[in-house]
Amino acid sequence: MSEIRTGRQRYYTIFSHFYDFFIKIHSGSHGAETRQFLVDAAQTVRGRHIRILDICCGTGSVILAFAKKYPEALVTGYDFSGGMLRKAKQKDGENRVAFVLGDAARLSYADDCFDIVCCSHALYELKGQVRIQALAEMKRVVKPDGLVFIMEHEVPRHPLIKILFHIRMLMMGSSDAREFVEQDLQPYEKLFTKVALSHTPSGKSKLITCQKS
Ligand SMILES: C[S@@+](CC[C@H](N)C(=O)[O-])C[C@H]1O[C@@H](n2cnc3c(N)ncnc32)[C@H](O)[C@@H]1O
Repeated sequence: MSEIRTGRQRYYTIFSHFYDFFIKIHSGSHGAETRQFLVDAAQTVRGRHIRILDICCGTGSVILAFAKKYPEALVTGYDFSGGMLRKAKQKDGENRVAFVLGDAARLSYADDCFDIVCCSHALYELKGQVRIQALAEMKRVVKPDGLVFIMEHEVPRHPLIKILFHIRMLMMGSSDAREFVEQDLQPYEKLFTKVALSHTPSGKSKLITCQKS
């Protein structure tokens, strides 16, 4: 994949320059708490040399938290924005994470090869068909006894934030993002055998845990 292929990739690469700052303003102290909630939920997966894949990893905050928690795991961050990956690499002082450029709808991995696959605050931003393909790909690459974790925003409650959320999604062509976020478990139950829902302590995000067998 060439680094800048679509307008969407260009958008994210520009966004990468102020993404972490934006998240700091947007989430405040809840950002770290939300990441920790996801990483802690994964501790039911046992083993030293486990393989972890973070789809749409952005600037790497989640996969770097996994790398810290699992010092012997093989950790990979996957994203289609070269700019986001460059920022992520800069944060990975110990070179622990393999950062891979690629499309979430076509993962460059064999079936059944990861113990943990996660995707944080990104699925809702994908266009409808890409989102469906990305979920199917996560299912394909996770091991039968592995876990897929999807972290998503709760529907914003504040009227102004709701409007801003809507405008941003319309600009990105993800006009069904709000419906997707509101759907709770339906999109996951269509694909996975077992699905569980939990909520972060701040109530701003939810975590969907999926098993394929
Ligand atoms: C809102 S950011 C989330 C980043 C990170 N997961 C986090 O929690 O901070 C969405 C990310 O998804 C990536 N992305 C969007 N569409 C993608 C696609 N089709 N394939 C791979 N990455 C994609 C973007 O480049 C961006 O880094």
